[in-house]
Amino acid sequence: MTSNADPTVEPKKPALIPTKICCIGAGYVGGPTMAMIAKQCPEIPVMVVDLNQARIDRWNSDNLPVYEPGLQEVVEAARGRNLFFSSDVESAIRQSNMIFISVNTPTKTTGVGAGRAANLEFVEKCARTIAQCSEGHKIVVEKSTLPVRTAEAVKRILRSSSSGASFDVLSNPEFLAEGTAVNDLLNPDRVLIGGESSAAIDTLVRVYQRWIPRDKILTTNLWSSELSKLTANAFLAQRVSSINAISALCEVTGADVDEVAKAIGTDSRIGPKFLKASVGFGGSCFQKDILNLVYLCEHFGLSEVAAYWEQVVRMNDYQKKRFSTRIVRTMFHTVSDKQISVLGFAFKKDTNDTRESAAIYICRDLLEEGARLVIYDPRVSKDQIQSDLLKSFQDAKGEISNRHKQLVENNVTTVSDAYQASDGAHALVVLTEWDEFTKLDMQRVYLQMHRPAFVFDGRNVLNAKALSEIGFEVHGIGRSYRHSN
Ligand code: UDX
Ligand code: ADP
Repeated sequence: MTSNADPTVEPKKPALIPTKICCIGAGYVGGPTMAMIAKQCPEIPVMVVDLNQARIDRWNSDNLPVYEPGLQEVVEAARGRNLFFSSDVESAIRQSNMIFISVNTPTKTTGVGAGRAANLEFVEKCARTIAQCSEGHKIVVEKSTLPVRTAEAVKRILRSSSSGASFDVLSNPEFLAEGTAVNDLLNPDRVLIGGESSAAIDTLVRVYQRWIPRDKILTTNLWSSELSKLTANAFLAQRVSSINAISALCEVTGADVDEVAKAIGTDSRIGPKFLKASVGFGGSCFQKDILNLVYLCEHFGLSEVAAYWEQVVRMNDYQKKRFSTRIVRTMFHTVSDKQISVLGFAFKKDTNDTRESAAIYICRDLLEEGARLVIYDPRVSKDQIQSDLLKSFQDAKGEISNRHKQLVENNVTTVSDAYQASDGAHALVVLTEWDEFTKLDMQRVYLQMHRPAFVFDGRNVLNAKALSEIGFEVHGIGRSYRHSN
């Protein structure tokens, strides 16, 4: 932790407010975050760049690549005024004095740390490009979720810049959740900025201070900031795994997990959030960040700490498996050639993101059992569903057998509404809590289905009592069959 002794990246005093900002990576984090900064700071030009030209083209169109409630309006307020999307990465770097790195850091699939450590290839490439193109002084801000001490690696690469440029490196982790990104950016619980140079920290503070009260902007050292992001996600995921663990017990005892969650959540020390039992958490962060934490602990020889956090991910895998097994068992031990209507494929409502979505794993298991899936999600495209399911069958070498390819091709249909999906179905399986699923005419759905008409509600969003009265056999998470009747 003595890296502030590094002479080659000794901070020079930067301008008090950045004159131009660029962000490398126009994804779920970079796009919305920069759109909000541009909207709130009309005098600062903000350039969002990405190597993926198709993605950039969509940011410049009415069909944004990221679905987020309210995002279109924020983008339209600033696009063309001081918000620009382009694939000219080098030019944007040259022109800016503050550069955000917001590229993806997926879990490594091969090599050292495979399945746990973060793949820093994209971050490293960004740092090298910045090092090559920069002149003068630049503030480089890590926005991607990174393992602790990545800033050190970024600094070392920047130091190799032959152009004589100097750099400050800040960590500014993103806490926005997908589906609520615009509100999270507008009214964050806190903004976290870690760094060594108080002048550089101050420059970024001034940007956020344009719309966020100063007392909500926390400043720390670099490592605290990086570790806080991993820790926040690990704690949140742990709550979900904890309530999901209890859901298994509820199903065998006759307790109702939503009642238990309410009862414990009213204890102000526990609080009511993140206690919604589900088919399992997904998304690009929770699993990845916990595995990162586990890798870090193992690296430092803290095997008990590593095992403690790893259990959160294991419980999540168990929850997904338990759900697909329950479907098969309940449907007389076979779903072979039965039509299962899958409602929802995104990892949560109000997003088109499917990364690590529980739906992928449930559908994969049901396909292995020979089910015919008819899938409907309001925002996820047919191509995305097909590609996610194909990938779910990849073996350790990344290969997919012909049998699995055929299963995805022949047994998966994607439709454009829930009634179409349930027509002729033996079971209805809710995997994402989209609001529209709670408003379906279930009488109509019932008339279209085979008997017994099974409902497996992986999000506990349907009214189990009303459905039972119609004639459905309802199975929710953390509720026994007896109870739902
Ligand atoms: C998360 C963090 O919340 C955010 O701060 C961080 O920046 C990125 O990771 P995100 O993954 O977008 O955000 O969504 P989140 O709302 O946290 O949900 C993650 C998963 O947990 C979803 O699959 C969701 O359905 C599930 N979940 C969440 C539950 O199953 N039950 C809950 O009570 C809450
Ligand atoms: P996140 O959810 O973290 O925003 P995404 O995968 O949605 O992750 O977005 C990351 C983006 O970063 C992708 O659009 C990808 O093309 C882009 N990207 C990755 N590496 C580079 C790079 N070296 N230069 C520019 N863009 C990059």
